[in-house]
Amino acid sequence: MTTPTGITSIIGHAEIAAFADSNINLQHSKVIEYRERVNSLRDSLRAKIAADPAYAVVRVLNAGSLAKGSALRNTSDFDLAVYLRPGAVPEDPTQLASWLVARLKEARPQLEDDQFELRDHCVSILYKDGRRVDIVPILDSGDGSGDGDLIRKDTGAKVRTNVRRHIEFVRVRKARCPVHYRQVIRLLKWWAVQQKGRDENFRFKSYFAELLCSHLLDTGTDFSSYPNALASIFTYIQVTGLTTPIIFEDYYQRSAVPDSVHGIITVIDAVNPQNNVMRDYTETNRRAIVSAAGAALDAIDYAEYVPKRAEAVAAWAEILGGQFRG
Ligand SMILES: Nc1ncnc2c1ncn2[C@@H]1O[C@H](COP(=O)(O)OP(=O)(O)OP(=O)(O)O)[C@@H](O)[C@H]1O
Ligand SMILES: [Mg+2]
Repeated sequence: MTTPTGITSIIGHAEIAAFADSNINLQHSKVIEYRERVNSLRDSLRAKIAADPAYAVVRVLNAGSLAKGSALRNTSDFDLAVYLRPGAVPEDPTQLASWLVARLKEARPQLEDDQFELRDHCVSILYKDGRRVDIVPILDSGDGSGDGDLIRKDTGAKVRTNVRRHIEFVRVRKARCPVHYRQVIRLLKWWAVQQKGRDENFRFKSYFAELLCSHLLDTGTDFSSYPNALASIFTYIQVTGLTTPIIFEDYYQRSAVPDSVHGIITVIDAVNPQNNVMRDYTETNRRAIVSAAGAALDAIDYAEYVPKRAEAVAAWAEILGGQFRG
């Protein structure tokens, strides 16, 4: 990277990109393998849907980071959204998980009983390699739009969502910024993983990383140099303290966001103006993010000018973890 003073940094875009390829990104062959795994599950359910128009499962869609291309090498949970016909499924959300297991077994008899893990409001299928597929139930709105009520894994509360639009939101930005947009999201997620390793209370959810990067991309940040893109993100976090609401107008107007959903951090779901995805972040959580971003920014600044290679590598290892060797 060439600094404003014309000095070339020891660690620049090429080094960060190479590290991302070797350590952060899910290898392409694995992406294909895991997508095939999730797709075969999806296709079994789709065959059931095709065979019986009254089937309780309406639609099955790949969701989350595997579908979006934002999964990390160590991502162990993949997401499959299963849209259900309200009225054809148990009303009691606590019974939904076991009902869902029965449908999954019907569709995939080869799955073993001990592969299923029943959680309160969702079902996970565990595979021998330690990866899992989370089956996320969504009550379909019935109008064919892809709108539905997601049943939150933790509380069982219903949240309006639209998986197609979540995927489209990423796809539109990927088309505008083909490689770098999703790479910067993965770099930021990776940085957050390092912070979580140091502080078990550190919170930084994946969807937040995606929306934060999307906001910066939309507002003109250049993602073509990874050190500069990361510096811009950390600067944004420091300057705003994350107290400025982040709102997108892909699917609704800003004015549709009610005041009541504003929180300590406000980042509104791209498809649902009533859903502040950071609703449960506390002031302590916010400060921890701002402070970690400040430290990351200091490390990037230091690495930019330091003449010794070992020191530049050590500074970047603060951000990217001890595996980073330049
Ligand atoms: N609080 C939320 N409100 C609405 N939608 C959400 C929320 N959290 C996640 N999602 C949606 O569900 C998807 C799956 O969530 P998840 O937490 O597994 O993130 P992910 O993008 O798959 O990343 P990871 O690789 O960490 O699993 C997200 O990509 C996002 O589209
Ligand atoms: Mg996921």
